[in-house]
Order: sequence, then structure tokens, then C-alpha cells
Amino acid sequence: MKRIAILTSGGDAPGMNAAVRAATLIGRALGADVLGVERGYKGMLEDAFVDLGPHDVQGILREGGTILGSARCKEFHERAVRDRARAVLAKREIDGLVVIGGNGSLTGAQYLAAPAEIGSGRPLKFIGIPASIDNDLGLTGLSIGVDTAMNTIVEACDKIADTATAHDRTFIVEVMGRDCGYLAMTSAIAVGADLALFPEAGKPEDEIVEQIVETVLAIRSKQRRARKVIIIKAEGVNLAVDRLKSLVDARLRERVPDAEPAAIETRVTVLGHVVRGGRPSAFDRLLGSRLANVAVRSLIAGQSHKMAAWMPPVELPEEVGMRSPYDPYCWLVDLGAVLAETENLLKGRSPLARWRAGAFDQIEDALLL
Ligand code: F6P
Repeated sequence: MKRIAILTSGGDAPGMNAAVRAATLIGRALGADVLGVERGYKGMLEDAFVDLGPHDVQGILREGGTILGSARCKEFHERAVRDRARAVLAKREIDGLVVIGGNGSLTGAQYLAAPAEIGSGRPLKFIGIPASIDNDLGLTGLSIGVDTAMNTIVEACDKIADTATAHDRTFIVEVMGRDCGYLAMTSAIAVGADLALFPEAGKPEDEIVEQIVETVLAIRSKQRRARKVIIIKAEGVNLAVDRLKSLVDARLRERVPDAEPAAIETRVTVLGHVVRGGRPSAFDRLLGSRLANVAVRSLIAGQSHKMAAWMPPVELPEEVGMRSPYDPYCWLVDLGAVLAETENLLKGRSPLARWRAGAFDQIEDALLL
């Protein structure tokens, strides 16, 4: 394999730069030319490539975001658009791609390199690297960016807890994660939150409101300095925070008619894109570097249509995945199987999704209240 290209696509994730750096250095060390594609598939369509060498990736390990830029490219769903992208790659004589991103980005690569679409055109191989703060990709224990995002949430909630304690207040903190509740569940445990709301629980609106109100009333009966309430809500819970706040406040006024409204009113903080930014944690730097090492070595050894995975949380049959010979914690798994499992995970159909929600309930019973 003479020439490989690296791209980052979809929502950026802290640690993507570590993967770009390692892929560049390892690709070059193995004798390949390495190019970077700017702004994901959008840049590919615009022939926006840059040469990547040791000098270009110096010092990027500690930077958040991605030096290559990222974008979402809806047009890539169209076969004609992918044909254009393949023509650009053929003109550039690119034999292999390293695609760093989430569900949509890896699906794009699967189609781009599909033998049925390539036909007699220039062959193309690719390996995916999971990167998304949402941790919603199947068959990998973690994706790049999750650890940093969790740390950011914990830091923000610790700060909120200070002011909540000072005022005996209830805070609802909304965190990113798209349709996946992983970040809300895990950060709630790490923060010692009083409640976590995540889409996998599938609770209707009135049940969510009642659960919050019961939690607030139970905690408010404690002595001062123990009366703050922190509730972490995943953005995937289909109930806008403003509406949730007004429903909870109205119900609290009904339940505690003598209380001054200002004293029981909830406060809302939406962490939004803050959760996606910042310097990558040491773990995300390692994860990005190690997954990229496995991805590039496997690609150059002739593998394709696979994803480098970190300690898959389920047993993998041989035809779906194998432990990487380059790193005992990393696996190389069939991307078709990853995408199928991702869909199951998001629809709550996979045993892992059920386990996550069930395990959280047990932890919640034992620790949170
Ligand atoms: O997939 C990563 C993510 O940050 C989600 O958590 C969030 O729902 C979405 O991207 C936000 O997308 P955008 O940056 O396009 O607003």
C-alpha cells in the first residue's frame, strides 16, 4: 500500500488528534505516503487534501477538536456523490483510508469502499476508528472522546454542586449523547448525582416528573448542606429541559403549597457543546494512539472493512472479530457487524443496551438515593 489518507468526520471528539498523529507517524514509518483530508467527506469531494508528516502532527496530541476539521456530509448517502469521491481518490492514487468518526462516518466508508460500487474501478481499502463522545458504537468498549467528555461533565457538575449546596437547590443538568444515555449514566455515578434520566429507560413524561419530585422531596427533608439535588438528564430523553422544569416546578408547588416558590424552583444547566471540547484526557490520547496503531498496521497488511475496537464488551465469534496481533487490548472487528450492533444498541434491542439500563438501576438503588 503506497498512499493512505486519513479523515475525521461527524461530531469531533477529544483524542481525534492523537489518532491522526499516530496514524501519520506509523503510516510513514511503514513506508506509505500519508495525506489528510480536510473536513471529512465534504473535503474529499472538494479535493481538499494536505500532506501529513512528523512536522505537521507535532504537538497536536494535546489539542482538542481535530486539526483536519470535520463535517457532516448528508450528500454522501447518494451513490452519484460517492462516485465523485471515488474519482478524486483514484486521481490522487489513494489505496487506503483511515476513517476516524462515529456511526455515520463509518457507514460512509462502508459504502465508499463497497466492491459492488467500485466495480472495475481502482480498489480501495479502509479501516475505521471509533470516535464519538456518545459511546453509541457497537462492539467497542469505548470510543475516542468518551473519557474526556465524562471528565468534563464531572468537573462541571462538581462546580454546580457547590452553588446548589449553598442555596439548597435542585439542578437539572443536560448532557450530550444523542440517542444514547451512556454519558448521563456513567457521569451520574461519578458525580454522585441523585438521579439520572436516560432514553434507554423508556419512561413516559409523567413518570419522569414524579420520579424527580419524589427525589427532591426526599432529599429536602434532610438537614441543611445535604439538601442539594443534582439530576443528570441525557439529551436523548425526549422531553425538553424547559418543559421538564416547568412541569416539575408546578408539581412541587402542588406538593408543598406552603413553600416559597423561589425556594423550591429548579435550575437548569445545558452543558451542550462544552462536553465535546477541551484537551483530551491521558486515556483518550492513549486510546487514539493505540487504535490508530492497530488500524494503520492492519490496513497496510491488507485488511479492509473493519474497525479497530477497544476491548469489545461482548464475546465475538471468529468471523466477526479477532484480537489484534499488535495490541492485546484492541480488536479488529467486521464493520458490517459493528453497524448492525450499533442499530440494536440504539433501539435498545441489544443485550448490552438492556444490561446498561439494568446495571444502572441496580447502582441507582444502592448508591444514588
Ligand atoms: O454525536 C456527537 C454529538 O455531539 C451528539 O452528542 C450531539 O447530539 C450532536 O453531536 C450535536 O451535533 P452538532 O454539533 O451538529 O450540533
